[in-house]
This record gives sequence, structure tokens and C-alpha cells, in this order.
Amino acid sequence: MTIKDRTESFWESYELPSFGRVTENLLTEICIVGGGITGVSLAYELGRRGHKVLLVEAFSLGSGQTGRTTAHLTCELEDSFQELLKIHDEKTVSLFYDAHKKAIDLIEENIKREGIDCDFRRLDGYYFCGYNEKEDFQKEKEAAASCGADLEYCETTPLLNESVSSLRYKNQGQFHPLKYVRGLVESMKKFDVTLYEGTHIQDMRQEDRETWTLLTDSGFEITSQYLIVATNTPVNNRFHIHTRQYPYRTYAVAFSLSDNSPREECLLWDTEDPYHYVRLADHKLIVGGEDHRVGETPDEDPFIKIENWTRTKFNFVKDVIYKWSGQIYEPSDSIGFIGINPGLEKNVYISTGESGIGMTSSAIASQIIPDLIEKKDNVWAPIFDPTRFTTKGMKEFIKENMNTALHYTDWVRPSEVDSLQEIPVDGGGVRREGFFKTCYYHDAGHFERKSAVCPHLGGIVHWNDIEKTWDCPCHGSRFNTRGKVIEGPATSDLMEKE
Ligand SMILES: Cc1cc2nc3c(=O)[nH]c(=O)nc-3n(C[C@H](O)[C@H](O)[C@H](O)COP(=O)(O)OP(=O)(O)OC[C@H]3O[C@@H](n4cnc5c(N)ncnc54)[C@H](O)[C@@H]3O)c2cc1C
Ligand code: FES
Repeated sequence: MTIKDRTESFWESYELPSFGRVTENLLTEICIVGGGITGVSLAYELGRRGHKVLLVEAFSLGSGQTGRTTAHLTCELEDSFQELLKIHDEKTVSLFYDAHKKAIDLIEENIKREGIDCDFRRLDGYYFCGYNEKEDFQKEKEAAASCGADLEYCETTPLLNESVSSLRYKNQGQFHPLKYVRGLVESMKKFDVTLYEGTHIQDMRQEDRETWTLLTDSGFEITSQYLIVATNTPVNNRFHIHTRQYPYRTYAVAFSLSDNSPREECLLWDTEDPYHYVRLADHKLIVGGEDHRVGETPDEDPFIKIENWTRTKFNFVKDVIYKWSGQIYEPSDSIGFIGINPGLEKNVYISTGESGIGMTSSAIASQIIPDLIEKKDNVWAPIFDPTRFTTKGMKEFIKENMNTALHYTDWVRPSEVDSLQEIPVDGGGVRREGFFKTCYYHDAGHFERKSAVCPHLGGIVHWNDIEKTWDCPCHGSRFNTRGKVIEGPATSDLMEKE
């Protein structure tokens, strides 16, 4: 089995059914690449609508960010309504909000229709004042109301030690993400849907502008009329989308609770930037936050920062029982990209840029993309359209792309380590060797040596000491200690060095 990340999330010990690799050439109507919640939700919905579907997953179902989420189901849109209205008009923000609100209903409908036991429950969410902040919640409430969101002002916030004000989002949701994925997978048995695991798609071509040919890592071909790329960040799109969304690492810590912990369950998000996100699940408190751009080393251990913050806010937490990190993609204008892939090829769809609201986005994608394939109108499709041209969010676009450009100067920077002796066991370092950069992983006396040049668009990878991976700061590709690609947009491994 390929080792991906080193930390383990709260959900990952839950077992999903397993499926074989692709071992022959295959023909299908719709091929979905990626077996996270987005790919699986799409496979389920397309199967339900009578399509012939084949889903291919590089590792195992749910082993991407779906297994590393905190699984709030919410129409809290990551940015405040006031911030969103600086970028978009009221109609767009209303549709954005409506899509995420209805997405919770869609998930609930799937659960009821198929009788999925995934700890789903409805609960309220509270957007509360963080450290040293005096949020003007009255203005935010008015901005929300202008977009059709009925938020309630609260003098206090549940679960917190201190008395701080908040805005209440009623009737949000939470569930166990992998139990939900399992439920959908089991429900698909009655449809014409076939699932494959352990099959990495290395190339996707459309030679006649009609059909797609996908090449697997064992040399087999999949021919399909339609292609859906549900790989969190698209592995088919080389450039366009990657300049409009930016890769971030985010961290989560699960705590056991003391016997006198509150019974009330709710979701919490604070007003800080980056913000903290909190939920109670299965008598555990899960707290996330401390986001930063991929490839950048945080000044302090993000888990310790989350733990310290949590202990000041919640007096009923006991021990840290899980801690893990994951990757999200922040879109330049705050709205994800769901629909037709920008470019000249036909019949290809993507779902990406979902930031920290990818659970509900998967349900939105499961409606937009099938509707587009079936040439039906979809009221949400225009606002998520990946081909949209917009000057909105230009400030973020320039700031983040300057950051990417700055990382290309890694080519001319000196070595991170002068000698291999500086690299601790189970650590990594990048060295300059002539014009090129080489990365070394120290595997107990033996050094794994690879080119440090990312095969996507030539960024220089950085060592991620928490997950023991090589991460590319430019667009977020990641590689394990052996240089094997574990996260796109790169589709090939770090090159061998002679
Ligand atoms: C710590 C954390 C907390 C979060 N909290 C929340 C939350 O509370 N609420 C919320 O809504 N969202 C949250 N998110 C975001 C959410 O988890 C993700 O947006 C969502 O899981 C993405 O699902 P996905 O199916 O699109 O991608 P993934 O789950 O990453 O699935 C993509 C799959 O594609 C496969 N793949 C990639 N390349 C290839 C290839 N070439 N060939 C074949 N397969 C390939 C991968 O192996 C992977 O399994 C959080 C994320 C993190 C990291
Ligand atoms: S991910 Fe694009 S250059 Fe590395």
C-alpha cells in the first residue's frame, strides 16, 4: 500500500468496501476520476439517473481530503456576507448561499432514501467573535438578510467558557463522512456504476473531440464519452484553474471530553483569519484552523496552537486523541469551480476550489454536472461556472499569484542543507547540485534522492515535516518520501536522480 500522509484523522480507521484495479481496456459513457465525496456523490446521482458510470480512484475511496475533513455541513460560506458583497452582487451571493443550504437537504434526502447510517444530525452553527475582535454583527446580519439568509443575533455562544456574541445559522448539519461515502457506495450496487481503486490516471486525451481516452498507470485505456475530474484539484487542467485557486494546509485536533461536558451539540466558527472551526462528534471535540499556504513552514507547531486556543475556550476538553492536517483550495473570488472545464476540449467537467465547504459542494456538484451532461437548466450552474471570466477577487488573484511567482525564485536560492548529515532520520532537505535542486529523505542511514523539481510546472518542492511529504508551494502537488505523487495537479512522480 502507498503511504500518503503520516497523521491519521478521526475518521480514517473506519473501513470502506474495497475494489480492484483496472486490469483491461474499458469502455463507458461517463468516467469519473477521483473517489472522494465529490466523485462518489456524482457516481451515485448519475447512476440513479440511469447513466453508465465508471469511477477510478488512485488509492482507496475516501482516502483523499474526504477522510481528513471535519465534516460540518453548512451554508456558512467561509467569508462573511459583508466580504462576499465586496466581490459579488446580492443575486450571486444569494444563489451561493441557497446552493449550500439546499446541499444539506440533498445530503439528508440521500441519507433518508437509502437508509444510510452515518451519524447525520441537524444542529445550529454559531459565527462568534474571536480574540480581540469586535465584530459588528448587526451589519453582518443585515448583509446576510439582503442575500436571503436569516441569521439570529445571540448575546452568548454555546460551549464557550466566555460570554461572547455570535450570529446563529439555524439547521446546519454534521455527519461521519466515510460512513456517508460507504452508504452511497453500497446504494450504487443497483445502478450501472463500476468502481475501481488503486488505479492512477496518468494521462487524459481527447483525440476526435468526442471521446476521451484515459491512460492508467498499468498501461490500460479507458474510453469514455464524458469525463468528470473530481480529484480535489483538477489533474487534467494544467494552468488555467491553478492560477485562480490556491493550495492551503489546514489542521485539526480531536479532544476527549470530561464527564461534565455540555450535551448541546453545535458547530462553531470564529471571526479570526485564519478562522477556527469546531464541532462535537461522538463525544469528542474536533477543532480546526491554523491554515497556511502549502510549502510554507509555520513559525509554531499548528497543533500546539490549536490545543492552546482550545483550552482557553472550552473548559471541558481532556486529552488530545487525534491530530491531522489536510489540504484545501481557496478560490480567488471565494466561489468554487463546478461545471465545464475551461479549454478547447468537449465533454469534460470539474469540481474544485471548494475551500472548507467541500462536503456541501459535493452535493452541489452532484446536481450541476449531471444537469449539464443532460443539457438541463441548473440555476446554480452560472455562478460556479469554471469558465467564468471575472475581474472579481483581483486583489486575491494578484496577491496569491505573486506568492506563487516568488516560489519560483527557489530555483536560484542556496541549499536548505549544506550536507546530508544535517538531515535528521525521518527528515528531508533540499540541496543545490549545480543548476538543479535535489531533495533527500533520510530513511535510517539511507538517503532517498529525487529531483526537487515538481513535474507539474517546475516548482521546487518543500519538506513537510508533519506529514513527511514533499509539497509544492506553487499549486499544491504533493509527493511521499519515495517521490510518488499523492496529490495533484501533478500526475507523475518526482524524477529519479542518477
Ligand atoms: C482538515 C479539513 C477540514 C475540513 N472541514 C470541512 C468541513 O467541516 N466541511 C466541509 O464542507 N468541508 C471541509 N473540508 C473540505 C472537504 O473535506 C474537501 O473539500 C472534500 O473532502 C473534497 O472532496 P473531493 O472528493 O473533492 O476530494 P478528495 O476527497 O481529495 O478526493 C479526490 C480523490 O481523487 C483521487 N485522485 C487524485 N488524482 C488522481 C488520479 N490522477 N487518478 C485517480 N484518482 C486520483 C485522490 O486519491 C482522492 O481520493 C475540510 C478539509 C480539511 C483538510
Ligand atoms: S504544483 Fe504546479 S508547479 Fe508544482
